[in-house]
Amino acid sequence: MQRTGLTFLTALAASVALLPWAAMAQQSPASVTVQADQRGPKIDRDIFGQFAEHLGTGIYGGVWVGKNSSIPNVRGIRTDVVEALRAIKVPNVRWPGGCFADEYHWRDGIGDPKKRPVTVNANWGGSIENNAFGTHEYFDFIDQIGSEAYVSINLGSGTYQEAAEWVAYMTADTRNTAGQMRAANGRKEPWKIRYLGIGNENWGCGGSMRAETYVDELKRFSRFSRNYNPAQQGTDNPQAMRRVAVGPDDKDTRYTEAVMKAWKERDWAWNIEGLSLHSYTVIKFPAAYDSVNFGEKEYAEILQSTLRMNDLIEMHGAIMDRYDPEKKVPLIVDEWGTWYAKLPDSPEGYLQQQNSLRDAMVAALNFNIFARHADRVRGANIAQMVNVLQAMILTDKDRMVLTPTYHIHKMYLPFQDATLVPTSLDAGTYRFGEISMPQLDAVAVRDMTGKLWLSLVNVDPNRPMPVRIRLAGVTPGTAKGQQLTAGAVNAINSFDAPDMVTPRQVSAQIENGAVAIELPAKSVTMLLIEP
Ligand code: AHR
Repeated sequence: MQRTGLTFLTALAASVALLPWAAMAQQSPASVTVQADQRGPKIDRDIFGQFAEHLGTGIYGGVWVGKNSSIPNVRGIRTDVVEALRAIKVPNVRWPGGCFADEYHWRDGIGDPKKRPVTVNANWGGSIENNAFGTHEYFDFIDQIGSEAYVSINLGSGTYQEAAEWVAYMTADTRNTAGQMRAANGRKEPWKIRYLGIGNENWGCGGSMRAETYVDELKRFSRFSRNYNPAQQGTDNPQAMRRVAVGPDDKDTRYTEAVMKAWKERDWAWNIEGLSLHSYTVIKFPAAYDSVNFGEKEYAEILQSTLRMNDLIEMHGAIMDRYDPEKKVPLIVDEWGTWYAKLPDSPEGYLQQQNSLRDAMVAALNFNIFARHADRVRGANIAQMVNVLQAMILTDKDRMVLTPTYHIHKMYLPFQDATLVPTSLDAGTYRFGEISMPQLDAVAVRDMTGKLWLSLVNVDPNRPMPVRIRLAGVTPGTAKGQQLTAGAVNAINSFDAPDMVTPRQVSAQIENGAVAIELPAKSVTMLLIEP
Protein backbone atom coordinates (compact mmCIF):
# COMPACT_ATOMS: atom_id res chain seq x y z
CA MET A 1 0.00 0.00 0.00
CA GLN A 2 1.26 3.44 -0.84
CA ARG A 3 2.20 5.42 2.22
CA THR A 4 0.69 8.83 2.60
CA GLY A 5 2.73 11.96 3.29
CA LEU A 6 1.42 11.94 6.84
CA THR A 7 2.51 8.38 7.67
CA PHE A 8 5.86 9.11 6.10
CA LEU A 9 6.24 12.21 8.27
CA THR A 10 5.28 10.26 11.37
CA ALA A 11 7.74 7.48 10.55
CA LEU A 12 10.43 10.02 9.81
CA ALA A 13 9.88 11.88 13.10
CA ALA A 14 10.06 8.57 14.99
CA SER A 15 13.26 7.49 13.26
CA VAL A 16 14.95 10.83 13.93
CA ALA A 17 13.85 10.74 17.56
CA LEU A 18 15.23 7.22 18.00
CA LEU A 19 18.61 7.96 16.46
CA PRO A 20 20.97 8.83 19.33
CA TRP A 21 22.80 12.09 18.79
CA ALA A 22 26.03 10.45 19.91
CA ALA A 23 25.67 7.87 17.13
CA MET A 24 25.28 10.65 14.56
CA ALA A 25 28.26 12.49 15.93
CA GLN A 26 30.37 9.33 15.77
CA GLN A 27 29.57 8.71 12.10
CA SER A 28 32.87 9.16 10.29
CA PRO A 29 32.73 12.14 7.95
CA ALA A 30 32.39 11.66 4.21
CA SER A 31 35.38 13.04 2.45
CA VAL A 32 35.29 15.52 -0.45
CA THR A 33 38.48 16.60 -2.21
CA VAL A 34 38.35 19.76 -4.30
CA GLN A 35 41.25 20.31 -6.70
CA ALA A 36 41.00 24.04 -6.08
CA ASP A 37 44.19 24.72 -8.04
CA GLN A 38 42.74 23.18 -11.21
CA ARG A 39 40.16 24.36 -13.75
CA GLY A 40 37.70 22.36 -15.83
CA PRO A 41 35.34 23.54 -18.58
CA LYS A 42 33.11 26.62 -18.40
CA ILE A 43 29.57 26.02 -17.14
CA ASP A 44 27.35 27.89 -19.58
CA ARG A 45 24.76 30.02 -17.81
CA ASP A 46 22.30 28.76 -20.42
CA ILE A 47 21.89 25.53 -18.42
CA PHE A 48 19.62 27.64 -16.20
CA GLY A 49 17.22 28.44 -19.07
CA GLN A 50 13.45 28.26 -18.66
CA PHE A 51 10.55 27.10 -20.77
CA ALA A 52 7.21 28.94 -21.09
CA GLU A 53 4.61 27.29 -23.29
CA HIS A 54 1.07 28.32 -24.10
CA LEU A 55 -0.24 25.65 -21.77
CA GLY A 56 -2.74 25.94 -18.93
CA THR A 57 -1.95 29.06 -16.92
CA GLY A 58 1.75 29.07 -17.83
CA ILE A 59 1.34 32.23 -19.91
CA TYR A 60 -2.25 33.41 -19.43
CA GLY A 61 -2.65 34.22 -15.72
CA GLY A 62 0.94 33.27 -14.86
CA VAL A 63 2.75 35.86 -16.98
CA TRP A 64 0.14 37.76 -18.96
CA VAL A 65 -2.80 39.35 -17.18
CA GLY A 66 -3.62 42.07 -19.73
CA LYS A 67 -3.14 45.82 -19.52
CA ASN A 68 -6.50 46.44 -17.83
CA SER A 69 -6.01 43.87 -15.07
CA SER A 70 -6.25 44.90 -11.41
CA ILE A 71 -3.15 42.75 -10.88
CA PRO A 72 -0.16 45.12 -11.03
CA ASN A 73 1.40 44.83 -14.47
CA VAL A 74 3.57 46.58 -17.00
CA ARG A 75 1.99 46.50 -20.46
CA GLY A 76 -0.04 43.43 -19.42
CA ILE A 77 2.85 41.45 -17.88
CA ARG A 78 2.51 40.83 -14.15
CA THR A 79 5.01 42.74 -12.05
CA ASP A 80 5.40 40.26 -9.18
CA VAL A 81 6.40 37.46 -11.56
CA VAL A 82 8.81 39.74 -13.44
CA GLU A 83 10.51 40.82 -10.20
CA ALA A 84 10.90 37.23 -9.02
CA LEU A 85 12.33 36.07 -12.35
CA ARG A 86 14.74 39.01 -12.60
CA ALA A 87 16.22 37.90 -9.30
CA ILE A 88 17.22 34.49 -10.65
CA LYS A 89 18.80 35.90 -13.83
CA VAL A 90 17.00 33.63 -16.28
CA PRO A 91 19.40 33.39 -19.25
CA ASN A 92 16.79 32.49 -21.88
CA VAL A 93 13.11 31.59 -22.17
CA ARG A 94 12.02 28.92 -24.65
CA TRP A 95 8.69 29.87 -26.25
CA PRO A 96 5.94 29.32 -27.54
CA GLY A 97 6.23 25.54 -26.96
CA GLY A 98 6.51 22.56 -26.71
CA CYS A 99 3.86 20.80 -28.69
CA PHE A 100 2.08 24.15 -29.02
CA ALA A 101 4.96 25.47 -31.17
CA ASP A 102 4.32 23.02 -33.98
CA GLU A 103 0.76 24.32 -34.34
CA TYR A 104 1.54 27.98 -33.74
CA HIS A 105 1.07 30.45 -36.57
CA TRP A 106 2.91 33.60 -35.64
CA ARG A 107 0.75 35.98 -37.66
CA ASP A 108 -2.13 35.18 -35.27
CA GLY A 109 -0.16 36.90 -32.51
CA ILE A 110 0.76 40.29 -34.00
CA GLY A 111 -1.11 43.51 -34.65
CA ASP A 112 -4.19 44.91 -32.98
CA PRO A 113 -5.07 42.49 -30.15
CA LYS A 114 -8.78 43.01 -30.81
CA LYS A 115 -8.37 41.71 -34.34
CA ARG A 116 -6.24 38.69 -33.49
CA PRO A 117 -7.85 35.35 -34.30
CA VAL A 118 -9.18 33.18 -31.52
CA THR A 119 -7.98 29.60 -31.79
CA VAL A 120 -8.15 26.43 -29.73
CA ASN A 121 -5.13 25.04 -27.90
CA ALA A 122 -5.77 21.49 -29.04
CA ASN A 123 -2.70 20.06 -27.33
CA TRP A 124 -3.48 21.38 -23.88
CA GLY A 125 -7.01 21.04 -22.62
CA GLY A 126 -8.72 22.65 -25.61
CA SER A 127 -8.49 26.04 -23.96
CA ILE A 128 -9.30 29.17 -25.92
CA GLU A 129 -6.22 30.93 -27.26
CA ASN A 130 -6.97 34.56 -27.95
CA ASN A 131 -3.41 35.26 -29.08
CA ALA A 132 -3.13 38.26 -26.74
CA PHE A 133 0.40 37.11 -25.93
CA GLY A 134 2.31 37.05 -29.20
CA THR A 135 5.74 37.94 -30.53
CA HIS A 136 5.83 41.55 -29.24
CA GLU A 137 4.52 40.58 -25.81
CA TYR A 138 7.07 37.74 -25.57
CA PHE A 139 10.00 40.03 -26.34
CA ASP A 140 8.64 42.64 -23.92
CA PHE A 141 8.45 39.93 -21.24
CA ILE A 142 12.01 38.65 -21.71
CA ASP A 143 13.23 42.22 -21.83
CA GLN A 144 11.48 42.97 -18.53
CA ILE A 145 13.08 39.96 -16.83
CA GLY A 146 16.50 40.63 -18.43
CA SER A 147 16.59 37.42 -20.45
CA GLU A 148 17.21 36.29 -24.03
CA ALA A 149 15.07 34.67 -26.69
CA TYR A 150 14.75 30.98 -27.47
CA VAL A 151 12.07 30.84 -30.16
CA SER A 152 10.77 27.48 -31.42
CA ILE A 153 9.53 27.61 -35.00
CA ASN A 154 6.71 25.52 -36.40
CA LEU A 155 8.17 22.68 -38.45
CA GLY A 156 5.34 20.22 -37.77
CA SER A 157 2.37 21.98 -39.36
CA GLY A 158 3.99 25.13 -40.78
CA THR A 159 6.00 25.81 -43.91
CA TYR A 160 9.58 26.92 -44.54
CA GLN A 161 8.15 30.14 -45.84
CA GLU A 162 6.13 30.85 -42.70
CA ALA A 163 9.14 30.17 -40.48
CA ALA A 164 11.48 32.23 -42.66
CA GLU A 165 9.05 35.14 -42.61
CA TRP A 166 8.72 34.99 -38.83
CA VAL A 167 12.48 35.05 -38.32
CA ALA A 168 12.72 37.94 -40.79
CA TYR A 169 9.91 39.78 -38.96
CA MET A 170 11.82 39.46 -35.69
CA THR A 171 15.32 40.26 -36.94
CA ALA A 172 15.30 42.39 -40.11
CA ASP A 173 15.94 46.10 -39.96
CA THR A 174 13.55 48.61 -41.48
CA ARG A 175 15.16 48.58 -44.93
CA ASN A 176 13.28 45.30 -45.28
CA THR A 177 9.48 45.10 -45.53
CA ALA A 178 9.43 42.54 -42.69
CA GLY A 179 11.21 45.06 -40.46
CA GLN A 180 8.84 47.82 -41.55
CA MET A 181 5.88 45.62 -40.63
CA ARG A 182 7.37 45.05 -37.16
CA ALA A 183 8.02 48.79 -36.78
CA ALA A 184 4.41 49.52 -37.74
CA ASN A 185 3.40 47.22 -34.90
CA GLY A 186 5.47 49.21 -32.43
CA ARG A 187 9.04 47.90 -32.52
CA LYS A 188 11.57 49.60 -34.76
CA GLU A 189 14.81 47.90 -33.64
CA PRO A 190 15.28 44.27 -34.66
CA TRP A 191 15.25 41.75 -31.84
CA LYS A 192 18.03 39.28 -31.16
CA ILE A 193 17.27 35.57 -31.14
CA ARG A 194 19.85 33.61 -29.16
CA TYR A 195 18.39 30.18 -29.96
CA LEU A 196 16.08 29.08 -32.74
CA GLY A 197 14.46 25.69 -32.09
CA ILE A 198 13.82 23.95 -35.40
CA GLY A 199 10.64 22.11 -34.47
CA ASN A 200 9.78 20.34 -31.24
CA GLU A 201 9.53 16.62 -30.58
CA ASN A 202 8.97 15.90 -34.25
CA TRP A 203 9.28 12.24 -33.29
CA GLY A 204 5.99 12.73 -31.39
CA CYS A 205 3.59 15.66 -31.11
CA GLY A 206 5.51 17.49 -33.85
CA GLY A 207 4.39 15.11 -36.57
CA SER A 208 5.57 11.58 -35.62
CA MET A 209 8.33 11.82 -38.22
CA ARG A 210 10.96 9.22 -38.89
CA ALA A 211 14.38 10.60 -38.04
CA GLU A 212 15.33 10.58 -41.74
CA THR A 213 12.25 12.64 -42.64
CA TYR A 214 13.06 15.12 -39.89
CA VAL A 215 16.63 15.46 -41.12
CA ASP A 216 15.40 16.42 -44.60
CA GLU A 217 13.08 19.01 -43.09
CA LEU A 218 15.79 20.26 -40.75
CA LYS A 219 18.15 21.03 -43.62
CA ARG A 220 15.61 23.22 -45.36
CA PHE A 221 14.39 25.01 -42.21
CA SER A 222 17.98 25.58 -41.12
CA ARG A 223 18.88 27.00 -44.51
CA PHE A 224 15.94 29.32 -44.98
CA SER A 225 15.26 30.59 -41.44
CA ARG A 226 17.66 33.46 -41.89
CA ASN A 227 18.49 35.87 -39.14
CA TYR A 228 18.92 39.39 -40.56
CA ASN A 229 19.88 41.20 -37.36
CA PRO A 230 23.08 43.11 -38.21
CA ALA A 231 24.43 42.39 -34.71
CA GLN A 232 24.12 38.63 -35.19
CA GLN A 233 25.95 38.17 -38.49
CA GLY A 234 29.05 36.01 -39.00
CA THR A 235 29.61 32.42 -37.93
CA ASP A 236 32.35 33.36 -35.46
CA ASN A 237 30.20 36.05 -33.89
CA PRO A 238 29.48 35.03 -30.26
CA GLN A 239 26.10 36.72 -30.65
CA ALA A 240 25.14 34.69 -33.73
CA MET A 241 21.82 32.84 -33.52
CA ARG A 242 22.15 29.15 -32.63
CA ARG A 243 19.89 26.71 -34.42
CA VAL A 244 18.82 23.79 -32.24
CA ALA A 245 17.76 20.57 -33.96
CA VAL A 246 15.29 18.18 -32.43
CA GLY A 247 17.23 15.36 -30.83
CA PRO A 248 16.48 12.37 -28.68
CA ASP A 249 13.35 11.43 -26.83
CA ASP A 250 14.90 10.24 -23.58
CA LYS A 251 16.85 7.04 -24.32
CA ASP A 252 15.79 6.65 -27.94
CA THR A 253 18.93 7.16 -30.02
CA ARG A 254 17.39 7.36 -33.51
CA TYR A 255 17.28 11.15 -33.78
CA THR A 256 20.73 11.48 -32.19
CA GLU A 257 22.26 9.16 -34.78
CA ALA A 258 20.44 10.58 -37.79
CA VAL A 259 20.92 14.27 -36.97
CA MET A 260 24.57 13.94 -35.99
CA LYS A 261 25.39 11.78 -39.03
CA ALA A 262 23.74 14.35 -41.29
CA TRP A 263 25.60 17.13 -39.48
CA LYS A 264 28.94 15.42 -40.03
CA GLU A 265 28.17 14.98 -43.73
CA ARG A 266 26.68 18.47 -44.14
CA ASP A 267 27.52 20.77 -47.02
CA TRP A 268 28.03 24.54 -46.79
CA ALA A 269 24.31 25.27 -47.13
CA TRP A 270 23.03 24.36 -43.68
CA ASN A 271 24.16 23.90 -40.12
CA ILE A 272 23.01 23.51 -36.55
CA GLU A 273 24.51 24.83 -33.35
CA GLY A 274 22.70 22.56 -30.89
CA LEU A 275 20.95 19.22 -30.48
CA SER A 276 18.02 19.01 -28.10
CA LEU A 277 17.36 16.28 -25.51
CA HIS A 278 14.00 15.90 -23.76
CA SER A 279 13.78 13.79 -20.64
CA TYR A 280 11.28 14.13 -17.81
CA THR A 281 11.55 12.74 -14.30
CA VAL A 282 8.46 10.55 -14.32
CA ILE A 283 7.97 6.96 -13.31
CA LYS A 284 5.82 6.25 -16.35
CA PHE A 285 3.29 8.03 -18.55
CA PRO A 286 0.50 8.88 -17.88
CA ALA A 287 2.07 10.46 -14.83
CA ALA A 288 0.33 9.12 -11.73
CA TYR A 289 2.60 10.00 -8.82
CA ASP A 290 1.25 12.65 -6.48
CA SER A 291 3.27 15.85 -6.23
CA VAL A 292 2.65 16.34 -2.52
CA ASN A 293 1.13 13.23 -0.89
CA PHE A 294 3.97 10.77 -1.16
CA GLY A 295 6.14 8.58 1.01
CA GLU A 296 9.77 7.60 1.08
CA LYS A 297 9.26 4.97 -1.63
CA GLU A 298 8.10 7.60 -4.13
CA TYR A 299 10.81 10.00 -2.96
CA ALA A 300 13.52 7.41 -3.62
CA GLU A 301 12.01 6.38 -6.96
CA ILE A 302 11.84 9.94 -8.23
CA LEU A 303 15.43 10.66 -7.23
CA GLN A 304 16.62 7.44 -8.80
CA SER A 305 14.70 8.32 -11.96
CA THR A 306 16.18 11.83 -12.13
CA LEU A 307 19.73 10.49 -11.82
CA ARG A 308 19.17 8.75 -15.16
CA MET A 309 19.88 12.16 -16.68
CA ASN A 310 23.56 11.42 -16.17
CA ASP A 311 23.32 8.14 -18.13
CA LEU A 312 21.30 9.77 -20.91
CA ILE A 313 23.84 12.55 -21.36
CA GLU A 314 26.66 10.02 -21.44
CA MET A 315 24.82 7.73 -23.85
CA HIS A 316 23.82 10.46 -26.32
CA GLY A 317 27.13 12.23 -25.72
CA ALA A 318 29.01 9.10 -26.81
CA ILE A 319 27.07 9.06 -30.10
CA MET A 320 27.71 12.78 -30.58
CA ASP A 321 31.42 12.21 -29.87
CA ARG A 322 31.61 9.78 -32.80
CA TYR A 323 30.43 12.45 -35.23
CA ASP A 324 31.67 15.52 -33.36
CA PRO A 325 34.72 14.70 -31.22
CA GLU A 326 35.51 18.41 -30.87
CA LYS A 327 32.13 18.95 -29.20
CA LYS A 328 31.17 21.76 -31.56
CA VAL A 329 27.46 20.89 -31.28
CA PRO A 330 26.19 21.36 -27.74
CA LEU A 331 23.58 19.11 -26.21
CA ILE A 332 20.72 21.35 -25.08
CA VAL A 333 18.44 19.63 -22.54
CA ASP A 334 15.59 21.95 -23.40
CA GLU A 335 12.85 20.06 -21.56
CA TRP A 336 13.56 18.47 -18.19
CA GLY A 337 11.95 18.34 -14.77
CA THR A 338 9.41 16.39 -12.75
CA TRP A 339 6.06 15.36 -14.17
CA TYR A 340 3.44 14.21 -11.64
CA ALA A 341 -0.31 13.64 -11.64
CA LYS A 342 -2.36 16.78 -12.12
CA LEU A 343 -3.67 18.49 -8.99
CA PRO A 344 -7.17 17.16 -8.27
CA ASP A 345 -8.97 20.46 -8.83
CA SER A 346 -7.02 21.52 -11.91
CA PRO A 347 -8.32 21.21 -15.47
CA GLU A 348 -7.31 18.29 -17.67
CA GLY A 349 -4.28 19.12 -19.79
CA TYR A 350 -3.08 22.06 -17.68
CA LEU A 351 -0.23 20.03 -16.10
CA GLN A 352 -0.58 21.73 -12.73
CA GLN A 353 1.35 20.10 -9.90
CA GLN A 354 2.77 21.08 -6.52
CA ASN A 355 6.46 21.62 -5.93
CA SER A 356 8.09 20.25 -2.79
CA LEU A 357 11.52 19.88 -1.24
CA ARG A 358 11.79 16.71 -3.36
CA ASP A 359 11.66 18.91 -6.49
CA ALA A 360 14.40 21.11 -5.06
CA MET A 361 16.58 18.01 -4.65
CA VAL A 362 15.78 17.01 -8.25
CA ALA A 363 16.76 20.46 -9.51
CA ALA A 364 20.06 20.49 -7.60
CA LEU A 365 21.01 16.99 -8.75
CA ASN A 366 20.30 17.91 -12.37
CA PHE A 367 22.30 21.14 -12.18
CA ASN A 368 25.20 19.14 -10.77
CA ILE A 369 24.89 16.61 -13.62
CA PHE A 370 24.79 19.39 -16.23
CA ALA A 371 27.80 21.09 -14.60
CA ARG A 372 29.83 17.88 -14.64
CA HIS A 373 29.07 17.55 -18.36
CA ALA A 374 29.71 21.22 -19.08
CA ASP A 375 31.89 20.39 -22.07
CA ARG A 376 28.87 18.99 -23.97
CA VAL A 377 25.77 20.25 -22.12
CA ARG A 378 25.76 23.96 -22.80
CA GLY A 379 22.06 24.67 -22.40
CA ALA A 380 18.99 23.36 -20.58
CA ASN A 381 15.45 24.57 -20.02
CA ILE A 382 13.43 23.41 -17.04
CA ALA A 383 9.80 22.59 -17.79
CA GLN A 384 8.18 24.93 -17.09
CA MET A 385 8.52 28.44 -15.70
CA VAL A 386 5.15 29.33 -14.12
CA ASN A 387 2.21 27.12 -13.03
CA VAL A 388 3.15 24.16 -15.26
CA LEU A 389 5.05 20.99 -14.23
CA GLN A 390 8.19 21.74 -12.14
CA ALA A 391 7.52 25.46 -11.92
CA MET A 392 9.57 28.22 -10.31
CA ILE A 393 6.45 30.18 -9.51
CA LEU A 394 2.81 29.35 -8.79
CA THR A 395 0.10 31.98 -9.13
CA ASP A 396 -3.56 32.13 -8.25
CA LYS A 397 -5.21 35.30 -9.47
CA ASP A 398 -3.29 38.09 -7.69
CA ARG A 399 -1.33 35.74 -5.41
CA MET A 400 2.12 34.35 -6.15
CA VAL A 401 4.35 31.87 -4.37
CA LEU A 402 7.99 30.94 -4.99
CA THR A 403 8.59 27.19 -5.07
CA PRO A 404 11.51 25.23 -3.59
CA THR A 405 12.76 24.84 -7.19
CA TYR A 406 12.89 28.65 -7.47
CA HIS A 407 15.10 28.81 -4.40
CA ILE A 408 17.52 26.27 -5.88
CA HIS A 409 17.84 28.45 -8.99
CA LYS A 410 18.72 31.37 -6.75
CA MET A 411 21.22 29.39 -4.71
CA TYR A 412 22.93 28.24 -7.92
CA LEU A 413 23.47 31.75 -9.32
CA PRO A 414 27.24 31.51 -8.73
CA PHE A 415 27.29 28.59 -11.21
CA GLN A 416 26.27 30.86 -14.09
CA ASP A 417 29.27 31.08 -16.45
CA ALA A 418 31.47 29.62 -13.71
CA THR A 419 34.34 27.17 -14.27
CA LEU A 420 34.09 23.60 -13.07
CA VAL A 421 36.66 22.62 -10.45
CA PRO A 422 37.57 18.90 -10.41
CA THR A 423 36.19 17.24 -7.28
CA SER A 424 36.21 13.69 -5.97
CA LEU A 425 34.16 12.31 -3.13
CA ASP A 426 33.39 9.32 -1.05
CA ALA A 427 29.63 9.60 -1.33
CA GLY A 428 28.25 6.85 0.89
CA THR A 429 24.98 5.18 -0.03
CA TYR A 430 21.33 5.97 0.52
CA ARG A 431 19.11 2.88 0.38
CA PHE A 432 15.38 2.34 0.36
CA GLY A 433 14.33 -1.24 -0.30
CA GLU A 434 15.86 -2.26 -3.62
CA ILE A 435 16.75 1.34 -4.50
CA SER A 436 20.22 2.65 -3.79
CA MET A 437 22.10 5.77 -4.85
CA PRO A 438 25.02 7.90 -3.66
CA GLN A 439 23.99 9.69 -0.47
CA LEU A 440 26.15 12.73 -1.19
CA ASP A 441 26.61 14.75 -4.35
CA ALA A 442 29.13 17.57 -4.63
CA VAL A 443 30.23 19.97 -7.36
CA ALA A 444 32.75 22.78 -6.99
CA VAL A 445 33.10 25.81 -9.25
CA ARG A 446 34.99 29.08 -9.52
CA ASP A 447 32.50 31.82 -10.27
CA MET A 448 33.07 34.56 -12.82
CA THR A 449 35.10 36.55 -10.27
CA GLY A 450 37.25 33.55 -9.28
CA LYS A 451 35.51 32.77 -5.97
CA LEU A 452 35.23 29.12 -4.96
CA TRP A 453 31.75 27.64 -4.40
CA LEU A 454 30.75 24.13 -3.42
CA SER A 455 27.31 22.58 -3.84
CA LEU A 456 26.57 19.68 -1.45
CA VAL A 457 23.42 17.55 -1.68
CA ASN A 458 22.51 14.99 0.99
CA VAL A 459 19.70 12.95 -0.56
CA ASP A 460 19.07 10.73 2.46
CA PRO A 461 15.75 11.78 3.98
CA ASN A 462 16.65 10.30 7.38
CA ARG A 463 20.37 10.61 8.02
CA PRO A 464 22.43 13.78 8.37
CA MET A 465 25.90 13.53 6.89
CA PRO A 466 29.09 14.94 8.37
CA VAL A 467 31.42 16.00 5.56
CA ARG A 468 35.09 16.97 5.58
CA ILE A 469 36.26 18.97 2.57
CA ARG A 470 39.93 19.13 1.63
CA LEU A 471 41.07 21.75 -0.85
CA ALA A 472 44.19 21.22 -2.92
CA GLY A 473 46.15 24.44 -3.30
CA VAL A 474 43.93 26.59 -1.04
CA THR A 475 43.91 27.13 2.71
CA PRO A 476 40.33 27.92 3.67
CA GLY A 477 39.66 30.81 6.04
CA THR A 478 35.87 30.87 6.03
CA ALA A 479 33.10 28.75 4.52
CA LYS A 480 29.55 30.02 4.61
CA GLY A 481 26.51 30.09 2.43
CA GLN A 482 22.93 28.95 2.11
CA GLN A 483 21.09 25.76 2.84
CA LEU A 484 17.66 24.51 1.77
CA THR A 485 15.87 21.85 3.77
CA ALA A 486 12.56 21.38 5.58
CA GLY A 487 10.83 19.13 8.08
CA ALA A 488 9.79 16.65 5.40
CA VAL A 489 10.63 15.89 1.79
CA ASN A 490 7.06 16.70 0.81
CA ALA A 491 7.12 20.15 2.42
CA ILE A 492 5.81 22.84 0.07
CA ASN A 493 5.35 26.59 -0.05
CA SER A 494 1.67 27.46 -0.29
CA PHE A 495 -0.10 30.78 -0.80
CA ASP A 496 -1.00 30.77 2.89
CA ALA A 497 2.42 29.55 4.11
CA PRO A 498 4.90 30.72 1.47
CA ASP A 499 8.09 30.31 3.54
CA MET A 500 7.99 26.68 4.61
CA VAL A 501 10.90 25.82 2.29
CA THR A 502 13.28 28.75 2.05
CA PRO A 503 17.08 28.89 2.25
CA ARG A 504 18.79 29.77 5.52
CA GLN A 505 22.30 31.02 6.19
CA VAL A 506 24.88 28.42 7.26
CA SER A 507 28.53 28.42 8.26
CA ALA A 508 30.97 25.55 8.21
CA GLN A 509 33.91 25.04 10.57
CA ILE A 510 37.54 25.22 9.55
CA GLU A 511 39.43 22.33 11.18
CA ASN A 512 43.10 21.63 10.49
CA GLY A 513 42.99 23.27 7.10
CA ALA A 514 39.81 21.47 6.01
CA VAL A 515 36.16 22.57 5.89
CA ALA A 516 33.85 20.57 8.17
CA ILE A 517 30.07 20.66 8.04
CA GLU A 518 27.20 18.39 8.98
CA LEU A 519 24.63 18.32 6.20
CA PRO A 520 21.09 17.84 7.44
CA ALA A 521 19.08 14.97 5.98
CA LYS A 522 17.40 15.91 2.64
CA SER A 523 19.26 19.14 2.10
CA VAL A 524 21.03 21.23 -0.50
CA THR A 525 23.90 23.47 0.65
CA MET A 526 25.83 26.04 -1.34
CA LEU A 527 29.05 27.17 0.35
CA LEU A 528 31.36 30.03 -0.52
CA ILE A 529 34.86 29.05 0.58
CA GLU A 530 37.30 31.92 1.00
CA PRO A 531 40.93 31.98 2.08
O1 AHR B 1 6.24 20.38 -21.31
C1 AHR B 1 5.05 19.78 -21.72
C2 AHR B 1 5.19 19.05 -23.03
O2 AHR B 1 6.08 17.98 -22.88
C3 AHR B 1 5.75 19.82 -24.18
O3 AHR B 1 4.78 20.56 -24.85
C4 AHR B 1 6.25 18.74 -25.08
O4 AHR B 1 7.32 19.18 -25.89
C5 AHR B 1 6.65 17.64 -24.13
O5 AHR B 1 6.19 16.41 -24.52
